[in-house]
Amino acid sequence: MAGTGCKIKLESVSKSFDDKIGRTAVLDEISLNVYENEFLVILGPGQCGKTVLLNIIADMEQADSGTITFDPQSSGQTGFVFQRYALFNWKNVLKNVELPLKFKGAEKEQRQNTAMKYIEMVGLKGFEKAYPSQLSGGMKQRVGIARAYASGNDIILMDEPFGALDAQTRYQMQDELLKIRSKEKKTIVFVTNNIEEAIYMGDRILLLSNKPSKVVKEYVPDLERPRKNTSSQFMELRDEITANMDLAL
Ligand SMILES: Nc1ncnc2c1ncn2[C@@H]1O[C@H](COP(=O)(O)OP(=O)(O)O)[C@@H](O)[C@H]1O
Ligand SMILES: [Mg+2]
Repeated sequence: MAGTGCKIKLESVSKSFDDKIGRTAVLDEISLNVYENEFLVILGPGQCGKTVLLNIIADMEQADSGTITFDPQSSGQTGFVFQRYALFNWKNVLKNVELPLKFKGAEKEQRQNTAMKYIEMVGLKGFEKAYPSQLSGGMKQRVGIARAYASGNDIILMDEPFGALDAQTRYQMQDELLKIRSKEKKTIVFVTNNIEEAIYMGDRILLLSNKPSKVVKEYVPDLERPRKNTSSQFMELRDEITANMDLAL
């Protein structure tokens, strides 16, 4: 797979869980490629298995069957941005952002310099000594994004990162993330259940069905950036995806 521009390749990945009602199949032979530096959106209804899929890619969960292959030039490690921020409340912004570098054994000075670079990039300069409880939801997620970038990993997985934000902040953060991404290219896998967000953000969109979920369709929005959610092409694509997307069970 070296030289193909493919960063991650999933082949027939399946996953079930045992629960009170028996065995629930969540992922049904999911196959997909993630290409270098693309912004790939995985769109699907609530409870269809998006988080399970990302966790499997991040090696936080094991698939029952199938394979996940990383480009050999990639470390196979990923930065992760969580829906509920997952910040350490007793650590300030700087210490939160430094953490992945600390785990990697980086020296203090290098850690701080790198963390400060990304704190600045996400627009939080001046807040490095603040604690998460002093920050708004949007600011907390800026910290989450800075931390994922500071990890130095070339792949970043984002699990409904703006799902907990109010609509206005969500729009702002979408633009902010696209701006950050234009400054430093990464391969991004972004999960959402929001069709407009998927179209606004994605270079490519993979639509999942309800569980046991499969990839039902791929969309490549042919829309100039910055995209406008009131343009006729945007609305046509929104209608088309809406018609093909399951309602959450
Ligand atoms: N640890 C678990 N134990 C049992 N079932 C689980 C577990 N994690 C996920 N599931 C099942 O997987 C389904 C999909 O979960 P999830 O990936 O969190 O959905 P999504 O992120 O798409 O909203 C859940 O509805 C649940 O049935
Ligand atoms: Mg989820």
